[in-house]
This record gives sequence, structure tokens and C-alpha cells, in this order.
Amino acid sequence: MERHEISRIAHRDHPVAAPLSDETVRGLLERLLRGREDGRLLDLGCGEAAWPVRALAAHPALRAVGVDTDPVALRRALETAQRLGVAGRIGLHHTDAREFTASEPFDAVLCVGSTHAFGGLGPTLAAIAPLLAPGGAVLLGESYWEREPTPLAREVFGDGLSDLAGTVAAAREAGWLPVAGHTSTRTELDAYEWAWTGSLTDWALDQPPGPDREQALRTAAEHREEWLTGYRDCFGFVTLLLRRSPES
Ligand SMILES: C[S@@+](CC[C@H](N)C(=O)[O-])C[C@H]1O[C@@H](n2cnc3c(N)ncnc32)[C@H](O)[C@@H]1O
Repeated sequence: MERHEISRIAHRDHPVAAPLSDETVRGLLERLLRGREDGRLLDLGCGEAAWPVRALAAHPALRAVGVDTDPVALRRALETAQRLGVAGRIGLHHTDAREFTASEPFDAVLCVGSTHAFGGLGPTLAAIAPLLAPGGAVLLGESYWEREPTPLAREVFGDGLSDLAGTVAAAREAGWLPVAGHTSTRTELDAYEWAWTGSLTDWALDQPPGPDREQALRTAAEHREEWLTGYRDCFGFVTLLLRRSPES
């Protein structure tokens, strides 16, 4: 199985592909779209487009665009949008987010758990700037180190992460000001990891013996081990609501 397929199965029992509860997602979307309910929303690295589809269902005049490189996730996004009756207001693009351009700017841009597509927070914000309308806002979800990372945590996440202060400072240095933010709670972080490893294990146990089942069980076990022994005590996730600084 490809990594995309594993990830899809692992995320099937969680509201979004990031460590945020259902209630937090609702609250962040409300805050992002306050005063922008009849505007245009862009989601870069949208996956199955859980965020824009929810936003469209809540705001009948909103329009949205989702961009992702995973065609199966985009097909599922369309199916969900059709089921909820919002498919006429969403455009789904099978495109590398780094290459996405638009003729009209967006009032709100989401990039949650997908900054790796651009090579980190700074390049993500640089790519978003020309796509955002004046007065627009960005909801950006980024991993950070809550504590000094263990060697295993560094191995899993690489050297690109900062601590929370460094993450916010990087956004400010790139010309953005946080107007709201949410640091995922321990409960949200744990719920995400239990869902990821649990859904994959649950799926595998319903498969006939064979390479897919073995791969899914092995991946879930390795992931659970990395989480519990490597990064549970040092990993954090912050979702920042950002607007352009007047000096930028
Ligand atoms: C962790 S998921 C987050 C999905 C979604 N933002 C959410 O919160 O539910 C990361 C997504 O980024 C997508 N992705 C990775 N590299 C990409 C790229 N270069 N361009 C567009 N999407 C990309 C993956 O296919 C995946 O769907």
C-alpha cells in the first residue's frame, strides 16, 4: 500500500488530519470566517477537504477551493461535498500546492498540517501572500517542540521544527501577526494518535491474511512506539490565525 492509502485509513475516525477536536475545528473555522462568510476560502493541502466542506455547510454564501496532490482524497472530498449538497460551491484541484495560482484572491486561506508541502512555515506564508485579498486571514496549523526533542523525535520529524515562541516569531518575521491561536491540548494530541494507530489496526484486523494486513499492523505498531517512546512528551501543534502586518 502507498503512504497516501495508509494515511487515509489512519485518519478515517478523526474529524481532520491534524490533532484538533471537532469543537476546536468548528471554533477555528468560525473565527477564520467571521465577516468573510460570503467570501472565498482556499485550502492548500486540503486532503479530503474536511475543513472547507464543513465551512461550506455552515455558510451558504461561501465558496471554496481545495488543492491537494492525492487524487483519491480529492475524489472522497467531492463525494462528501455532494452528500452534503455543497459540491456546486467547491472547486477541487489535483495540483501541487506550490504551483497553484488563481485569477481572483481569497478572503481566507487554510494550510493545516500541510506546510511541509512548501518546505516549512516561512515558504508557506510567502506562497500564500499573493493569493490573499486585502483584509484576508490565514489559518495555519504547524507542529512545534513543546520540550527539547528526544533523538527519536528528531529522527521522526527532522530538524525543521522550532519551539512555540520560535514558531510565532517566524510568522512575525515573515510579516504576519497572530490575531488568534489554539495550542492543541494533551487530550487532542493523544486522541489524534490513538485514532491514527487504532483505525489502522482496526482496519487491518478485518483484512484477510496478506501483505496489506501485515503492512498496516506493522506501520501502526511502529507509529505507536515512536509516539509513546519518542515524541509524546515533546511534540506540540499550534493553529495560528494570521493577518498581514501593516509593515509588510
Ligand atoms: C496531514 S494532511 C492535512 C490535510 C488537511 N489539511 C486536514 O487538516 O485535514 C497533509 C495533506 O497535504 C497533502 N500534500 C502533501 N504535499 C502536497 C503538495 N506538494 N501539494 C498539495 N498537497 C500536498 C497531502 O496529500 C495531505 O492530504
